[in-house]
Amino acid sequence: MRNQSRPATGAELLGQIRMASDRLAVDAAGVLTVDGTAVHVLVGRFGSPLHVVVEATLRENYRRIRRAFTACWPSPVNVMYAIKCNNNLAIRAVMTSEGAGGDCFGLGELYATLAGGADPRLLVMNGSNKSLDEVAAAVALGVTINVDSVDEIDFLREAVRRTGRRATVNLRLKIMPDDLEAALLDAYRTPEGAAENVRRTKWGFTTEAAAPLVAALRAIEGVTLEGYSAHVGHLSTKPAAFASVSAGLGRAVRVLEQATGFSPASLDIGGGWAQTREPSARAFAINAFTIEDYARAATDALKQALGRTQDLPALSLEPGRYITSNAQLLLASVGALKRDAGLAWAHVDASTNDLPRIESGRHWYQILPATRMHAPLDETIEVVGSTCFKSVLGAARRMPALARGDIVAILDTGMYAEVFGNQFNGIPRPATVLLGDGGAEVIKRRETIADVFAAHRVPERLAAQAPRQAGSDAVLRWAAQGFDA
Ligand SMILES: Cc1ncc(COP(=O)(O)O)c(C=O)c1O
Repeated sequence: MRNQSRPATGAELLGQIRMASDRLAVDAAGVLTVDGTAVHVLVGRFGSPLHVVVEATLRENYRRIRRAFTACWPSPVNVMYAIKCNNNLAIRAVMTSEGAGGDCFGLGELYATLAGGADPRLLVMNGSNKSLDEVAAAVALGVTINVDSVDEIDFLREAVRRTGRRATVNLRLKIMPDDLEAALLDAYRTPEGAAENVRRTKWGFTTEAAAPLVAALRAIEGVTLEGYSAHVGHLSTKPAAFASVSAGLGRAVRVLEQATGFSPASLDIGGGWAQTREPSARAFAINAFTIEDYARAATDALKQALGRTQDLPALSLEPGRYITSNAQLLLASVGALKRDAGLAWAHVDASTNDLPRIESGRHWYQILPATRMHAPLDETIEVVGSTCFKSVLGAARRMPALARGDIVAILDTGMYAEVFGNQFNGIPRPATVLLGDGGAEVIKRRETIADVFAAHRVPERLAAQAPRQAGSDAVLRWAAQGFDA
């Protein structure tokens, strides 16, 4: 763990928490720059709040996780970007240009992955309750399926018949190692214990349930059983947790080999690989372990449990958060400042609408005073969003004295933020820009109030009694252009 003593300025705080792939700096005027562009320039040009994605960070994170695993695994490695963590099509396009495979859940993510140019042969479809349509689409496109329900046996037979194509599948296994509990961080402990948590909430089949399915899948004409998949996910930032799950997978493979005679040609070890700053750690914490530590721990444990270091199956992984989390930040502008009842609040124009995992997952985001990075952090304030529910983005944060129009930067919002974004209080969702070789490019336009209500319909019989007020159109105009009497 690093020294967590309180820094004197935002610039010093950034110095303490900076990661190698960040593209964050502070200019002479004390303004945060993202990949060389000052935050007020971005907000001035594209509006506020604003999601900002850094292409160089995406590429560096992808290359690093790929290098970490290929260095430890002598057989082919496929890094499949888990688009669930951030489904911007442009991010997927960056991944495609790097040669990344992909993990998708359902037709929505399959669409986004292919729209982002991914090669179907490098993709896998996950899902614990896939429909026949989803299975058939995957088969038609040549996407591998991680089988996760008995129903999929019939669906596969039907999909092969309808498409006239071979299906490639893995069987998802449920790994519940006894030693997982010991490898958890306190922040992730649940009252029932890790193994029980996995037993109840993670998918896949135990070895007992899997054995007959291996035989059933191998018996279907037109289906190739490639191997197994397992995803326990993000339960800890300790390498021992990843080792525990990988060892469990290796043991399951051997048990199933004995029971069925089937040797997998590939193993998909899922996602959950932690980053250095992890909002899901639920506190200000810098993770001392690196992706190289995780790769070594997981692959050593897997090799040991498989009982060999050569002639290994191909390896796939499904990282989401590792690739995107520090590649995106959210810029928000300060509005009302309040002091009362012994507290100070800075209201900003972003909210928990944009960062719902603060409430549903107790995520803790680092917030920087982006336009006053050289000022002393000598106040304790509540940074709150502008919704009518409590929308605490950061409680009791050390900040300089802020003023209306200042910008704050909320870091590490590339994972599970924008994808969960909602429109509570009728608030349109922010725009997203990509900073890269093309300068700053809008990759998702800002929503309008009209977008928020675009799918709504008032039945004729009600519209007759409650005709639309002309003022509603004026509101749309004022929201877009400012109030103009
Ligand atoms: C099956 C599967 N694969 C991959 C991921 C990506 O996980 P992460 O973003 O933690 O790497 C998830 C996330 O829940 C998942 O459920």
